[in-house]
Amino acid sequence: MANLAPLSSADEPTVAALIAARPHLSMHAFDGLVLEGVPLAHIADTLGTPVWVYGAGTMRARLAALKSALAGIAEVHYAVKANDHLAVLKIMAQGGAGADVVSGGELLRARKAGIAADHIVFSGVGKTRDELALALREGIFQINAESGEELAMISAVATSIGRTARVALRINPDVDAGTHAKITTGKAENKFGIQYADAAALYAHAATLPGIEPVGIALHIGSQILTTAPYRAAFARAAELIRTLRAMGQTVTRMDCGGGIGIGYADEPGASPAALAGAIRAAFGAMDLQLMVEPGRWLVGPAGLLLASVVLTKGDERFVVIDAAMNDLIRPAMYDAWHGIVPLAAGNAVGATTLVDVVGPICESSDTFAKARALPRLPAGARVAILDAGAYGAVMSSTYNARPQPAIAMVDGDRWTVIRQRQTLEDLWAGETVPDFL
Ligand code: LLP
Repeated sequence: MANLAPLSSADEPTVAALIAARPHLSMHAFDGLVLEGVPLAHIADTLGTPVWVYGAGTMRARLAALKSALAGIAEVHYAVKANDHLAVLKIMAQGGAGADVVSGGELLRARKAGIAADHIVFSGVGKTRDELALALREGIFQINAESGEELAMISAVATSIGRTARVALRINPDVDAGTHAKITTGKAENKFGIQYADAAALYAHAATLPGIEPVGIALHIGSQILTTAPYRAAFARAAELIRTLRAMGQTVTRMDCGGGIGIGYADEPGASPAALAGAIRAAFGAMDLQLMVEPGRWLVGPAGLLLASVVLTKGDERFVVIDAAMNDLIRPAMYDAWHGIVPLAAGNAVGATTLVDVVGPICESSDTFAKARALPRLPAGARVAILDAGAYGAVMSSTYNARPQPAIAMVDGDRWTVIRQRQTLEDLWAGETVPDFL
């Protein structure tokens, strides 16, 4: 063990504290960990591991809570990128959310799940001509343009198919969201949006372009934001811009306040929708604007789990090797993200803890779900749930190391069903051909 870095005793929430902070989870003596009303061991027994589980009731409740905090203030466009499964999108549609999409694929997913075109906003720095044409033919609510070059493209596409594009200008407010550098989007050095200093002139220019009707301003400063201070700073800049534009005689009727509301992964408190609502109202409430937000993570993150089994432990039980890996959930490897890990069996969730590294089987050191985590002893065959994996989980996964994508189950109260079959090994090479010249 001499060559291993010493494990530090971290001040992290216990298994019991993680469960207590999540109303959709509970631990029972016989059933073990239960999501809503379904024992997760039952799903793992039936479908095997690794397997994703989403709580429909949890997603529904979170959407209802967010909508109620924003009632009379802003509309909700769910950021499809966080979790684009059709069943998740249907929950959003049924709960009255529109969609924020960033590709033609997401646009068609949202439409297929029943989200009306006039509740869809199209964001993104590199929309192609084909995607823009699709959005205009579908008649979506708004396109958020991110550059002068893109405005020219939108104008050309719209006029070529005889449509008018309702466009908001996504500004880069040069505000630090105080989150991980890889998910910060509103600093001047980030690729996103139109530089604040150029925005007013570009808006006026947009109004002269054929096929374009500028309708408002959009911003999105980053993801997993836990305080309102960065929002307040960004909103103040946007409000100032809107006042400038109106003084110039421009029509501005809409403000898209972006997404980014953070959740508590460990014991940090998640962001408060009421506080966000207050910040929106303070900045724009008196400006006669149609307001909207585009959250993803807050709505679905806590509602998803990744279940895995312990394959073996090694190094005097310091390494707990599980059958899920970074190809399934890449957040720890990519952002050093902390995810709670909870045993499925009540018997595995109690007892003395030791500090362990929970790792996957992939041949990269970054295939690590937790470092120096205090967990009760987890023998081979024990099963765990990786928490808060409903956002940026399955959507970001790959088949690296020829690992088929896991099945997905959806729980709703005390019932559950499979909403995606596990990929077979044959699926992995189904689209591949070996050329004749080999
Ligand atoms: N709107 C726009 C324009 C966005 O780019 C994003 C996220 C959202 C809304 C939704 O943000 P949310 O409310 O979910 O924070 N993969 C990273 C997060 C990337 C976020 C990208 N943009 C992660 O796993 O943390």
